[in-house]
Amino acid sequence: MEKRIAIVRGDYIGPEIVSEAMKVLRCIETKYDHTFIYDEVLAGGAAIDATGECLPQISIDALKQADAVLLGAVGGPKYDSQPANNRPEKALLRIRSLLGLFANLRPAILFPQLADASPLKPEIVQKGIDFVVVRELTGGIYFGKHETIGDRAVDEMAYSVDEIKRIAKVAFETAQVRHHKVTCVDKANVLDTSKLWRKVVQELAKEYPDVTLNFMYVDNAAMQLCKDPSQFDVILTENMFGDILSDEASMLTGTIGTIGSASLGSTSIGMYEPIHGSAPDIAGKDMANPLGTILSVAMMMRYSFHLEKEAKDIEKAVHAILDQGYRTADMMSKGMKQVGCQEMGDLVVKQI
Ligand code: NAI
Ligand code: MG
Repeated sequence: MEKRIAIVRGDYIGPEIVSEAMKVLRCIETKYDHTFIYDEVLAGGAAIDATGECLPQISIDALKQADAVLLGAVGGPKYDSQPANNRPEKALLRIRSLLGLFANLRPAILFPQLADASPLKPEIVQKGIDFVVVRELTGGIYFGKHETIGDRAVDEMAYSVDEIKRIAKVAFETAQVRHHKVTCVDKANVLDTSKLWRKVVQELAKEYPDVTLNFMYVDNAAMQLCKDPSQFDVILTENMFGDILSDEASMLTGTIGTIGSASLGSTSIGMYEPIHGSAPDIAGKDMANPLGTILSVAMMMRYSFHLEKEAKDIEKAVHAILDQGYRTADMMSKGMKQVGCQEMGDLVVKQI
């Protein structure tokens, strides 16, 4: 298989973690006889340094040519003085809208080897945490009308049938390659948008007879995530609820260094990135945890290229390395073997 991958290294630890993820990509190419073509694309702070703009036209053109995008992380103190419309983070928003990325997939997977890091009680953790939050990313209250008139302010939440249908489709298809269960989270006892979500999702569910569907109010979902996260497989929800629940979900696993994400959309170009930022405090010290980026590559194999075997191979290698006791500093605990960012990448490659 031949695929073109846009590589956005980003700022601070961005280039360090992306280098390790690229070692894994090259290893997969060799092992499975694929050809990946890498286009280096400047976005964020690095693009400001080189061109003055956070997302120059040449980067936009390159992104549109790609089959998938791998992104490290952008931003950091060096760029704090940039005007609001040229901040590195602005490049991310522009890429999202350029590629029509309306679906954000964030897995919450607790590696049993890192169970100590979870803030949950051992008896809850023991039942396992392995679910994905599918969050609508380009609609809802964040994109509605915002208005302040005198001593009153209004934020409007709106969704159309089409917007709901396309994100629900992503959730059902995700469940089909996982454990066949979708929980649609809403506030249908109060909000009209939620009532519409229920109607559309219920209707669409008929096309996925192999997937079980249930509905849950968002306040209850926030509790259930702490009480019994093992009940979830795919959580489908609108933008703001998803923003809040996906952060809660990642905390359950106790580390931000090991979580990847996928953003999918109306074009076939998906974007893959770790959930953490550019970690300026540890940049340049070979200390960053590359596993979140490496697991994002696994998601790229699965969701953009439909290479499930390759995806599982990467995930299994990460498990094996953790089983063998290797940890970057952020995951370190007593009796484990501490390694740097590069050595962690090398270990995963060797395992694959
Ligand atoms: P951060 O996620 O960069 O760092 C928070 C803490 O987690 C720090 O102590 C950091 O050292 C640690 N950490 C993060 N990733 C790690 C890794 N891979 N390995 C080991 N430790 C890791 O969040 P922060 O400090 O709030 O933001 C720093 C910069 O990153 C800001 O400019 C922010 O705007 C940007 N940012 C960019 C994102 C993106 O590109 N998608 C997302 C979030 C923040
Ligand atoms: Mg958030």
